[in-house]
Amino acid sequence: MKVLFVTSEFAGLDKVGGLGDASASLPVALCQLGIDVRVLLPAYAKVLAALPDITWLGRLPGRADIPGCRIGMVRMPSGITLYLVGAPSLYSRPGTPYGTPEGRDWSDNHVRWARLSLAAAQIARGQGKLGWSPDLLHANDWPSGLAPAYLRWDGTDVPSVLTIHNIAYQGNFAAELRHGLGIPDAAFAVNGVEFHGGISFLKAGSFYADQITTVSPTYAREITTEQLGCGLHGLMQTRATAGRLSGIINGIDETWDPARDQYLPYRFDADDLAGKRANADVVRTGLCLRPSNGPLFGVVARLVHQKGLDLIAEAASGIVERGGQIAILGLGDPEIEHVLNRTARQYRDDVAVLVGFNEPMARRIIAGSDFFLMPSRFEPCGLTQMQAQRYGALPIAHAVGGLVDTIKDGTTGFLFPDLTVDGLANACGRAFEVFADRTRLGAMRRAAMLRCFSWSVSAADYAALYRRHCGETMPRRMARPTAAPQRLELDLEVAA
Ligand code: ADP
Ligand code: GLC
Repeated sequence: MKVLFVTSEFAGLDKVGGLGDASASLPVALCQLGIDVRVLLPAYAKVLAALPDITWLGRLPGRADIPGCRIGMVRMPSGITLYLVGAPSLYSRPGTPYGTPEGRDWSDNHVRWARLSLAAAQIARGQGKLGWSPDLLHANDWPSGLAPAYLRWDGTDVPSVLTIHNIAYQGNFAAELRHGLGIPDAAFAVNGVEFHGGISFLKAGSFYADQITTVSPTYAREITTEQLGCGLHGLMQTRATAGRLSGIINGIDETWDPARDQYLPYRFDADDLAGKRANADVVRTGLCLRPSNGPLFGVVARLVHQKGLDLIAEAASGIVERGGQIAILGLGDPEIEHVLNRTARQYRDDVAVLVGFNEPMARRIIAGSDFFLMPSRFEPCGLTQMQAQRYGALPIAHAVGGLVDTIKDGTTGFLFPDLTVDGLANACGRAFEVFADRTRLGAMRRAAMLRCFSWSVSAADYAALYRRHCGETMPRRMARPTAAPQRLELDLEVAA
């Protein structure tokens, strides 16, 4: 079985959050199950700089205002084949995959992500001189949301799966822009790409994909509710009723191993935790916190409203009064940064904020922390709570989404139901009690560290899903001897 995995982030090349981790790890785990998964990613400036040995294969035609592009290929050390969408005018820029270095969205994002989506659909039709085409297309989040739609509009009989990593990011644009993206007039409808009078990439993908998955079973249920469906709950309900919406939990990759992590000054494992304390002292010194025997609460997160960091700022006084300290690492919204910095200034010796994206530091904070704060307003899956458990930092988390599915309350961490400062403070209170009871602390740490969060478990579920959908399409394709549309033969190659 051959699968094209389409994504806007890839850990090690360009990532802002967990989508990058999932895109770099899940395909490897799927390949280990014998599935030929290849990843399609834009050739960002960072990608071109990191990969000198790209073989440029063929070109894909543009459509309406979407320019043509080249397709490059490179084999990663993990064994994964990466296909790169070469369109320098769209992707060769500073900043993140989504916006400027200052954090503003790129104004041509509709064209940028339509280009990625269209490239995926064109490869699925056999275009681009790759010598390879997939049996199934797996899109991820709104940047590749139009891929299942282009497949359908072009009559390409390749099944598609859309994984929603976060329904809050939808790729909604003004209706007029649809002409430039080659969206057929008939598709500008409720049963299509239309969403509140505009167009929506995520809505389109959710409507046209053969299957929607999301990154935890709990979140799959939550997005069918008005409260957490971000306006798409009606469509999600319809698709769930038809058996077309399911949840598969993410994993974490095996580099998250406190006994082997190259970034840790001191390594440790569930049987010998001495290194954990030593890492905590390194973190304290590095962040100018006073030496302490109290618990260290870690936070590593994108600084966005979703993560509930404002609650941490409000709960900080209670934590500090009981002898706790807080080490925060994050990058994102300047306003959230400001709120956290104000707290850090107030409790100079006990609360530290490091602004930036810094993987070694992320690993050190998680390794040194006794507890890991995650008061997310919603959390589709969350990887950091799994990373924290693996490193013996017990998560304190809002009982929502993937946090419910990956934390055992009272055994490997603490879940709190009410997203209020009191709710968070009470859960921290439970953590302080455990910290004072060395036997209980040791038992919880051990239980957390020995949990299995392997991608191979997730991969087995995706593989079963792929098989189901390829099985559905295969008889259809075989029943039509002239299935290949004539247009394939006329595939005009245009310059990028
Ligand atoms: P999200 O995708 O919503 O940001 P996840 O928990 O799924 O949240 O994934 C976040 C990933 O990014 C984790 O691998 C985490 O360790 C990493 N990460 C988040 N913020 C930072 C940061 N400031 N520096 C380094 N790594 C970070
Ligand atoms: C999104 C979600 C996060 C999830 C990640 C990877 O960024 O916010 O909860 O873990 O995607 O699926």
